Amino acid sequence: MSVLTMRILPDPILRRQARKVGKVPANMKKFTDDMIETMHAELGVGLAANQIGSLQKVAVIQLPDWEEALVLINPEIVRQEGEREVVEGCLSIPGYRGLVKRSVSVRARAIGLDGKIIRIKADGLLAQALEHETGHLQGSLYIDHLVTPDDLWKIPQGGEEEEEEESGEESGSSPGTPAEDQETGEQPE
Ligand code: NI
Repeated sequence: MSVLTMRILPDPILRRQARKVGKVPANMKKFTDDMIETMHAELGVGLAANQIGSLQKVAVIQLPDWEEALVLINPEIVRQEGEREVVEGCLSIPGYRGLVKRSVSVRARAIGLDGKIIRIKADGLLAQALEHETGHLQGSLYIDHLVTPDDLWKIPQGGEEEEEEESGEESGSSPGTPAEDQETGEQPE
């Protein structure tokens, strides 16, 4: 496996629409393994393929308390319910956070590496991550969903993305202590 180079705003690929994957190709497992390794290296809870320079419609998600990543090929949100405001960040927009509008719950559909359909009902961080990553695959970023244009701020330290999340998210740790000023500091990437 290898850690791939992250594409950072304003890289135009982040604004491109991903292309639907037809039959799952044999090399998809290696590709998604690399995506997962990159997501781990960047301490993210999700990653979309255009963030590492591919326009395949593929995303990976791994919440902090999951032991394994979920591979989603051709993911789509098929239903959205409710509205809430949450703090969000993105590995492709390092050093910033924003307050965005997201759904309370979603239903999503995708196919897995085995070609079988995956249906997901989600709320909380998973719903947020699903909306964030499917957004990426449509060329959309969280900064398109800010509650108001002023609801974007620079995070103080460094320029690195994940100061708020504790290391060791790989297995079984709880979501990184959001501490400080925001009650909802969970970050899909
Ligand atoms: Ni992102």
